[in-house]
Amino acid sequence: MSANTILVLDFGGQYSHLIARRIRELKVYSEVGPGDLSSREFEELKEDLNIKGVILSGGPSSVYNEKSPKIDRKILKHSIPFLGLCYGHQLIAFISGGKVKPGKKHEYGISKVRINNSQGILEGLDKVEKVWMSHIDTVTELPEDYDVLAQSENCPVAAFMHKHKPFYGIQWHPEVTHTKNGMLILRNFVYNICRCKPNWKLENHINNSIEEIKKTIGKSKAIIALSGGLDSSTATILASKAIGKNLTAVFVNHGFLRKGEPDFVESIFKKSDMNFVKLSEQERFLKKIKGVKEPEKKRKIIGREFIRVFEKNAKKIDAEYLIQGTIYPDRIESGFKKFSDKIKTHHNVGGIPSKISFKGIVEPLRDLYKDEVKKLAASLGLPEKIAWRQPFPGPGLAVRIIGKVSKKKLEIIKKADKIVTEEIEQRGFNDKLWQYFAVLMDTKSTGVKGDARAYGYTVAVRIVESKDAMTANFTKIPYNILESISTRITNEIQDVTRVVYDITNKPPSTIEWE
Ligand code: XMP
Repeated sequence: MSANTILVLDFGGQYSHLIARRIRELKVYSEVGPGDLSSREFEELKEDLNIKGVILSGGPSSVYNEKSPKIDRKILKHSIPFLGLCYGHQLIAFISGGKVKPGKKHEYGISKVRINNSQGILEGLDKVEKVWMSHIDTVTELPEDYDVLAQSENCPVAAFMHKHKPFYGIQWHPEVTHTKNGMLILRNFVYNICRCKPNWKLENHINNSIEEIKKTIGKSKAIIALSGGLDSSTATILASKAIGKNLTAVFVNHGFLRKGEPDFVESIFKKSDMNFVKLSEQERFLKKIKGVKEPEKKRKIIGREFIRVFEKNAKKIDAEYLIQGTIYPDRIESGFKKFSDKIKTHHNVGGIPSKISFKGIVEPLRDLYKDEVKKLAASLGLPEKIAWRQPFPGPGLAVRIIGKVSKKKLEIIKKADKIVTEEIEQRGFNDKLWQYFAVLMDTKSTGVKGDARAYGYTVAVRIVESKDAMTANFTKIPYNILESISTRITNEIQDVTRVVYDITNKPPSTIEWE
């Protein structure tokens, strides 16, 4: 059982995960759950995770709309503290009998709030604070047993507390760095109000995971699905520390890898003293997804084939367990439990077939965010060449070729990807980037090459900045770099006549196109 946890109930807010990450920065474990969690599910989680407090996130809905997401009222009967932020603030006020209406003015960006009562949740704040607001609706009236703690020009109830119960509401976003004293507010809630102990340390994760792997696998053998990316490499080091020679790292070349990737991964792991196997299964995978257009279907087929390949090879060495580098956002985006909508099936989660011949699947990084895995990798001494690589999806280039995959398209995308990588890395531009890659469209367009009409493929270039892949911004890349990329792609790849730059953020887009 976790020593203590703050549960963030997600009502669709842009910053829900940021809240959980900020709480973890305070060394208290935090998870994100769906806003419509039933009280029975809540009770189970409360027991499992030792929940000491709940934060109700922001969200795009209006609490007075019948269909807007509401918290199960029975959850509020638990005698633990509740803090509502933005939509969550309005929700607590509304279901307790207060009034919420569209504000006279929308508040978006930095605002000033006047603090009437700087105790409890607002302890230590100045009389006037700079905060980040993002709302249309506003609480206009509170029920009798609530006190107003702060106001802004457009918001008569910018913060409140219940007179007798540990219920708090804040209209602004303390989790966003633009709110100057945001961390102080979260600190007040977590330490002073919920009485959590700062006992969650990333480093503890190393020992806890090693113990957990040892306990689960015992003296049996296991294989780890090693892709050479940050997550599976970190999980490999952890698993190797736990079970040593009983572990075999299996690297599958499914044919959808970037140029030079299989040799790169082999060069790193072959020289360690762990058991390492490289499998060449290009034909098998290509055959299985032949003619498949639909992205989720591709992902599922590739996920299933991965497992089948691992099962076959596990049998050869009597391995009973499969270890994977699944991380927290993979589980969320794959619709883990009902904690969120299914966005896309990360092959190592939702792509797993329901019947597998392993005794168990072990996922030592399942509760961590990407930046936390990066820190863990550094403490474990993972080579920088791996620790600082850009993420790469498990189904690989198959989900960067829109529609049907063929050998020819794979050749084109590999060349285009290499050009994007080289142009970015040669200029040292990669340091601030999360990912930079090429996507091959399934539409063709007209061009002119060597005075003749050419009818060829379109390549989209995707370059994004992100902290944890849950949100991302497209990079405002200098035009001269884009021009070099575009010129090289159209010059060096005969079949490409057009290059476009993807200028959408996540949300609403995802980082990968499929
Ligand atoms: P999206 O496209 O959902 O991607 O915004 C978020 C991050 O996850 C990576 N990604 C994957 N990683 N298996 C993985 O291990 C997958 O199936 C997968 N799909 C997407 C993506 O590259 C981005 O960094």
